[in-house]
Amino acid sequence: MIYHLSSQLAQTDCLVIGILEDESLTPELSQLDKSLNGLLSRLIKKLQKPGQFCYQSDLEASTLNIGAIILISCGKKDKYTAEVLENHLKASVKAVLAQNCAKATLHFPLLSNITPDQQLEFILRVVDCSLYIQPQFKTTSNKQALQEIFIHEASATPKALCEAIIIAEAIQFTRNLADLPANHCTPSYLSKSCVELAKSVPNVSYKILHKEEIQTLGMGGLLAVSQGSVEPPCFIELKYQGLETKGDPIVLIGKGVTFDAGGISIKPAANINEMKFDMAGAATVLGAIFACAKLKLPINLIALVPATENLTSGTAVKPGDVITMMSKQTVEVLNTDAEGRLILADALCYAEQFKPKYVIDIATLTGAVIVALGNVASGIMANDEALANALLEAAQKSLDKAWRLPLFPEYREKLDSPNADLINANFDRSAGSIIGGIFLERFVKDYRWAHIDIAGTAWISGNNRVATGRPLPLLLEFLRNAK
Ligand code: BES
Ligand code: MN
Ligand code: ZN
Repeated sequence: MIYHLSSQLAQTDCLVIGILEDESLTPELSQLDKSLNGLLSRLIKKLQKPGQFCYQSDLEASTLNIGAIILISCGKKDKYTAEVLENHLKASVKAVLAQNCAKATLHFPLLSNITPDQQLEFILRVVDCSLYIQPQFKTTSNKQALQEIFIHEASATPKALCEAIIIAEAIQFTRNLADLPANHCTPSYLSKSCVELAKSVPNVSYKILHKEEIQTLGMGGLLAVSQGSVEPPCFIELKYQGLETKGDPIVLIGKGVTFDAGGISIKPAANINEMKFDMAGAATVLGAIFACAKLKLPINLIALVPATENLTSGTAVKPGDVITMMSKQTVEVLNTDAEGRLILADALCYAEQFKPKYVIDIATLTGAVIVALGNVASGIMANDEALANALLEAAQKSLDKAWRLPLFPEYREKLDSPNADLINANFDRSAGSIIGGIFLERFVKDYRWAHIDIAGTAWISGNNRVATGRPLPLLLEFLRNAK
């Protein structure tokens, strides 16, 4: 999609205008109303309740060159929040697509608590997400008519438009990668797309560790998970240097399980196909590198991705096997389906060498987080109050919701093992997401750390299964404010 900042409410196939119930027309809309011989005022009278549409085509005032007008009621001003605007934008995109037109112009009243630049960015992101089409493997395709969107946002700047486009592209990148089927998106495919990414944006370098180097480092978690698979594992390191000097990086770790069958502790067949999304954390951290490099953010950022499949075979790791992790701690693998924490634990250990300012891991880690928070909020756990609060604030600002779960010491004994340092999963199912965090915490070195469980938010499940790109909006909001 091509996006423009527009200064006029004319020369378009479809003009969408949001109307507040209790506000009089702005000078600009009054002008438009006059040019249309009072059509706007007449249409507004038909709007009865928030969310209601009103439509008029065949406009007489041909000098304005408007194909059709769609008005949408945004309700009363004091109830007009970002959530409300988001819903109206999604509905507007549907209405515009139904018009089958090439160009559309959007004009919505400014929210009370944000700047025009922020609103422009928000509108563009929501619209672009609504227009997303996942990678297509259909032999027939139908082309979309809509080509250009003009956003009319008085006193928003071209710079904000550029930044908003970068962010929308990053979200698309993340969703595209996460949506790929597992026979296309293998660990080696992930590494190849990282090489391409590093070459396509400024100040990004990469390092791919292959099986031999993973063995040399003693990443026993990553090796154990991958040993049942023909596809070899890899460990990806991408570095974006946005500061003059090296050092003080923020390290992001993304779970890169390209397919999670559960291993010998095999998953039930229903919906197991959706485990192709189990690398959504990896896709998110790569999207973050893409965005930060293109936005030229003044931070140093490192993305780490342990990538593997988790399959079942004669060579697969077995329940009860004891493995030695990179940290030298031993783990009794009681459930081979709790594989994400095993590969993340090695990445947490690897991260120490960078002397990170923060480490944030992002993972589709537990089904239990869906029980706790549904598809609405990601689960955040952290060993640092300031970091947790900064992430929660970013979540609130970006409308990419998140909620904090505790890591109280009382939970730790759940991971006691009779013969190893710890087990990888408890079977009583209590506090499932927290126990995942508690396991990871055992491998966190001396740095500030947060864990984001995105099993409920990274994709929409069911017939319309599709990656959401979450929690990239949250993460980018955090990184843009990170000092
Ligand atoms: N990738 C899954 C988590 C998951 C489950 C994401 C359902 C989205 C939907 C993860 O590897 C997993 O299997 N976790 C187990 C942990 C358990 C064995 C302690 C789970 O949630 O059942
Ligand atoms: Mn699993
Ligand atoms: Zn998994």
